[in-house]
Amino acid sequence: MRRLLPAPGAEDTADLDDDALVAAYRLPAGRSLRVDFVASLDGSVTVEGRSGGLGSPGDRRVFRTLRALADAVLVGHGTAAAEGYRPVAADSAVGRLRAGLGRPVSAPVVVVSRRASLAPGDRLAVAPTVLVTCAAADPDRRAALQDAGVAVLVCGDDDVDLPVALDALAERGLAQLVCEGGPALLTAALAAGVVDELDLSIAPALVGGPDRLLAGLLPDVVRPRLLQVLEEDGVLFTRYAVDR
Ligand SMILES: NC(=O)c1ccc[n+]([C@@H]2O[C@H](COP(=O)([O-])OP(=O)(O)OC[C@H]3O[C@@H](n4cnc5c(N)ncnc54)[C@H](OP(=O)(O)O)[C@@H]3O)[C@@H](O)[C@H]2O)c1
Repeated sequence: MRRLLPAPGAEDTADLDDDALVAAYRLPAGRSLRVDFVASLDGSVTVEGRSGGLGSPGDRRVFRTLRALADAVLVGHGTAAAEGYRPVAADSAVGRLRAGLGRPVSAPVVVVSRRASLAPGDRLAVAPTVLVTCAAADPDRRAALQDAGVAVLVCGDDDVDLPVALDALAERGLAQLVCEGGPALLTAALAAGVVDELDLSIAPALVGGPDRLLAGLLPDVVRPRLLQVLEEDGVLFTRYAVDR
């Protein structure tokens, strides 16, 4: 993987190793919500219902790096279900990367679900998973998930209040979050003005599918600021700041 922007200096090596990739995505201390997505050139985010058809070795490295640098992984229930999410394992590539960085080997997965859809018995329905939901969600379901070890945060009455949720997560020490989508959650997060960074991998593919980066119209056009572009095998790894 090579750096295109900012233009590499004479001291930069051509091929970014894991340390260089960590340095390229490291964040200053403090709260932040960065969003990691892969999209095709036409803005499609799935092939046959999953993101894997757009993936590449470089995309998986960036995905692992962002997970390694985060305090927690934030994800909408739709994505957790479609992609078969499970807890971040200590003996995974992410766990090893985290250990090398001197961080706790695992990071909780935080599932956002208005209806508390996470099923007791699901692979994710264990500690240290966090469920962010609202008061309108079925109380029996919430209690069953809590009994299974899931930390249930009720943030909002009829809907999840994302700014309240992010405050609650920060209070639990989960200050730097990587949000892995999906489009419904990204759209809500942008509309709520809580996104700080968009890390978008652009795969050289044209899909024309129904699943797009955003699930609907935003109240205002968001104009992210380009910070960095890396490249490998024709895939562009962009890093944009989103000014709140
Ligand atoms: N290419 C990529 O990088 C990428 C990344 C992520 C996902 N995807 C793809 O996107 C598809 C899933 O899309 P999606 O839009 O359904 O995903 P999603 O945003 O992960 O899931 C939507 C569901 O999550 C919950 N949710 C999301 N935002 C919420 C909010 N603000 N408040 C309360 N609950 C919220 C709701 O769950 P309840 O219904 O339980 O209340 C909602 O039905 C999958 O096919 C996945 O593969 C692609």
